[in-house]
Amino acid sequence: QTEGRCPFRGDRVGGAIGSEPQLDHWWPNRLKVELLHQNPTEADPLGTSFDYAEAFSKIDLVELKREIKGLLTSSVSWWPSDYGNYGPQMIRMAWHSAGTYRIADGRGGAGEAMQRFAPINSWWDNGNIDKSRRLLWPIKKKYGAALSWADLIVLAGNCALEIMGFKTFGFGGGRIDAWEPDRATYWGPEGWNGKKPSETAPGPLEGHPNQMVTRTMRWNGEPDEDYYELENPLGATHQALIYVDPEGPRGNGNPLESARDIRESFARMAMNDEETVALIAGGHAFGKSHGAVSADKIGPAPEGAPIQAMGMGWMNPEGTGFAEYTMTNGIEGSWTPNPTEWDNDYLTNLFAYEWEQTSSPAGAIQWKPKDPDAPKTPDAHLDGVEHPLMMMTSDIALKEDPEYRKICEKFLEDFDYFSDAFARAWYKLTHRDMGPKVRYLGPEVAEEDLPWQDPIPALDHEVVDSSDIADLKAKILGTGLGVPALVSAAWASASNYRDSDKRGGANGARVMLWPQKDWEVNRPAELAEVIAALEKIQTEFNAAQSGGKCVSMADLIVLGGAAAVEKAAKDAGHDVEVPFTPGRMDASQEWTDETFQWLQPVSDGFRNFHRTDIGYNVSPEQIFLDRAALLTLTAPEWTALAGGLKVLDQNWDGSKHGLFTDRPGVLSNDFFDVLTSMDYEWVPQDESEMLFDIKTREGGETAFTATRCDLIFGSNSQLRQIAEVYGASDGEARLVKDFVEAWSKVMMLDRYDVAA
Ligand code: HEM
Repeated sequence: QTEGRCPFRGDRVGGAIGSEPQLDHWWPNRLKVELLHQNPTEADPLGTSFDYAEAFSKIDLVELKREIKGLLTSSVSWWPSDYGNYGPQMIRMAWHSAGTYRIADGRGGAGEAMQRFAPINSWWDNGNIDKSRRLLWPIKKKYGAALSWADLIVLAGNCALEIMGFKTFGFGGGRIDAWEPDRATYWGPEGWNGKKPSETAPGPLEGHPNQMVTRTMRWNGEPDEDYYELENPLGATHQALIYVDPEGPRGNGNPLESARDIRESFARMAMNDEETVALIAGGHAFGKSHGAVSADKIGPAPEGAPIQAMGMGWMNPEGTGFAEYTMTNGIEGSWTPNPTEWDNDYLTNLFAYEWEQTSSPAGAIQWKPKDPDAPKTPDAHLDGVEHPLMMMTSDIALKEDPEYRKICEKFLEDFDYFSDAFARAWYKLTHRDMGPKVRYLGPEVAEEDLPWQDPIPALDHEVVDSSDIADLKAKILGTGLGVPALVSAAWASASNYRDSDKRGGANGARVMLWPQKDWEVNRPAELAEVIAALEKIQTEFNAAQSGGKCVSMADLIVLGGAAAVEKAAKDAGHDVEVPFTPGRMDASQEWTDETFQWLQPVSDGFRNFHRTDIGYNVSPEQIFLDRAALLTLTAPEWTALAGGLKVLDQNWDGSKHGLFTDRPGVLSNDFFDVLTSMDYEWVPQDESEMLFDIKTREGGETAFTATRCDLIFGSNSQLRQIAEVYGASDGEARLVKDFVEAWSKVMMLDRYDVAA
């Protein structure tokens, strides 16, 4: 140690837990199975017995909102408010919390307040949002565990809108905070370090081959070319931004090309053109952009800031470092003459004036009115000082793009229509990832059902009892449909669930509706046969009841799966009962949003299905892991289901890959027996290493064939340990038990209507 120097800085000898290098450094492409066990209950300081819904329901929401609104209009010295009102920066905070949502995998969004953790807390686009959250600490401190950060962030956005004269559509609480950073979500390939990404921004691992990338890597093609495609499942056009670069694609200042980026990025947030314009024009009615100081002078983002910054970042050495010296994004100025009031001035001025490019003190491209007599906007801090209005390239885009322009014109003519469109789009934005409405809490939940909530009617009848269940199971098995077909229908119904945005699942029986009924992964012709047979049973059963007892198709499909799994286990010599909780209801086609298309699996290793047409540059087993994560499976659950479904003959195309048994439809441990056996060798069929022949070592005959998603359970070191448990001589009973538990878990993933 050198005297006077922090002993933890400088050259390091040795290391502690987690010190680099670690596994990912040596094998960056290994399958990271441990990601299935993220954010475990052990990381939650509130413990598993804490009931957030109960605690939240005791809050007086009127009083809480009054307190938030009071805080927004009082200023503190360490971060004085612009125009005496923190409202605008809170709207931006809430928007950025929700705006990470992307429809392709349902990840991102406001649901767990991931904005508190790296990498999102340190994205360039979230500059100074650390201050907004810290300003809310007195409220969070007062309400403690009863008010999650995730709910508070969205509620603060609503309160901000309301104090500035906007009528919001509603607020639903119920977001449960995460307690650790998400190490799994793929946010795109560029290097960055919490500073604004530049064309060749070096990342923290400068010199590493993965870092020799530019911010254009996520796009195929150029913004001015016909072929211009954003990599899936990304939603933002650039790394470390929430959506698009305000200065245009790659900072090129081109409004029409910016419009193209906006359309793509907002569509991936599940917003149509009208919702997109409403959100941008609505949001930019408030507040200002901050670009008083060159970005080069700004300190590191929160995650890389020194310990004494206490979790905050982007320290600004110029002047006071805040108020009129604030530097956030780099663009400087406000869009309207009255930035703390809800009005139509943003669109009015955007259309009333011609705009010309200029640059901010920080050097960013922005626009100002050509007409020197255009209205001015007051300085946010200095009395008597005024500035020209400002537009970003992404704002000018709304005027120049012909489709956006038409919507702007409509909003200009009819302010009430615009206000309603913004209120609805804001509600959707901030509640999009919460799943069905039964998950929303509090007195301000909007009554109206909205298509993006995937509504399912509330239970309105007496449900089947245990003797009905036994009769129905016998009837279903009596149809002769067979184990594979019944298992396939139930799995198709339930397994499109994704925990990221709580969509999909067996409730609603949307497997009978477009688009799900036609997905090739669901074996549509066979599915139709199963549905027809179950409908017959349903009609007979319901007709025979008096007193309103019914069974829904959603329940029958799941029950058919349960009956089939029990039979498959029995045929292997194991008597088990698959738990069944009735009470599901059937949804209608009318209330099935077209965005349901996105729930179609990109890849489903359980059924050896893998789409190659939609731009995912990953191996099948990686996206299989992704699917397991969306189903909230643990590694043993994933393994048990994968091996069990294989012997139940579930491949989407009827192929025999991974069917390592001569007893298809029997719930044996044959898959694991073969997988762990050294009697075979595994030989790629060609150079692509996608399909394999399983040959006997003696004799060299091909006994079976397999895919990567089959062999991964024997090749990956973590999965192999689990496969050995199931493949051992005492493994089959354990497999059957674990399979049934994991199966039941998947069938119940969307049952928010029943207590856990
Ligand atoms: C501020 C970009 C959409 C609400 C800003 C800033 C930028 C920006 C660069 C300035 C940040 C700073 O330096 O302080 C964009 C772009 C958008 C977009 C490129 C989409 C194309 C939205 C939406 C909303 C919103 C959808 C809300 C519905 C706000 C608010 C501010 C702001 C309220 C002012 C924050 C303050 O006064 O501190 N936006 N934005 N923006 N944005 Fe957006």
